[in-house]
Amino acid sequence: MIIDIITPILERRSVRKFAERPVEREKILTCLHAAQLAPSAENVQPWRFIVIDDPAVRDAFSKQVFSGIYSATRWAAKAPVLIALAADRNIIAHGVAAALQKIPYYMIDIGICGEHIVLQAQHMGLGSCWIGWFNARKADTFFRLPAKMRICELIALGYPEKSHAPRNKKLKNGGNMIQFNTWT
Ligand SMILES: Cc1cc2nc3c(=O)[nH]c(=O)nc-3n(C[C@H](O)[C@H](O)[C@H](O)COP(=O)(O)O)c2cc1C
Repeated sequence: MIIDIITPILERRSVRKFAERPVEREKILTCLHAAQLAPSAENVQPWRFIVIDDPAVRDAFSKQVFSGIYSATRWAAKAPVLIALAADRNIIAHGVAAALQKIPYYMIDIGICGEHIVLQAQHMGLGSCWIGWFNARKADTFFRLPAKMRICELIALGYPEKSHAPRNKKLKNGGNMIQFNTWT
């Protein structure tokens, strides 16, 4: 299906309050299909997705990862779905590039595939919010991830509690972030 990509980009905003309506697995899988079509350095596709849509698992997980200094993110404990974006950090192609260029490519890949998720979600009427403020060490331990894997980010997903008008987003520096052919 051809989608008009600018519409979900314009309409998306972070949603932190969700209706108590479960999200259909089919829609979650569509988001994750979109995620897996994302580009990745050397096409290594280093991502793995752990979908948390069982309220009991979500509650136990949330208790671990949104406590203490991370309690500002407690709102996410009520999200119908949390998707943990895990990355394989041990991929040789990434290792060489990362060593030479000092760039953690797996993080870039995770960022791109995650954005595919939120835009696909927006297109299907779902709200989402990226979550970086959580106890990542406890998240890895909760799922007993092998040492090479790391949960880099979470994405909360669900039907928004109320509909939001697209926000007139204030761009930093008045949106003046672009230069052609020079740096001044
Ligand atoms: C990598 C990343 C991590 C984020 N972590 C959090 C978070 O831990 N908690 C939160 O409430 N929002 C988080 N956000 C959402 C941002 O606060 C939000 O995207 C930003 O304020 C812009 O608002 P918008 O998404 O509505 O355009 C995160 C966003 C990104 C991209």
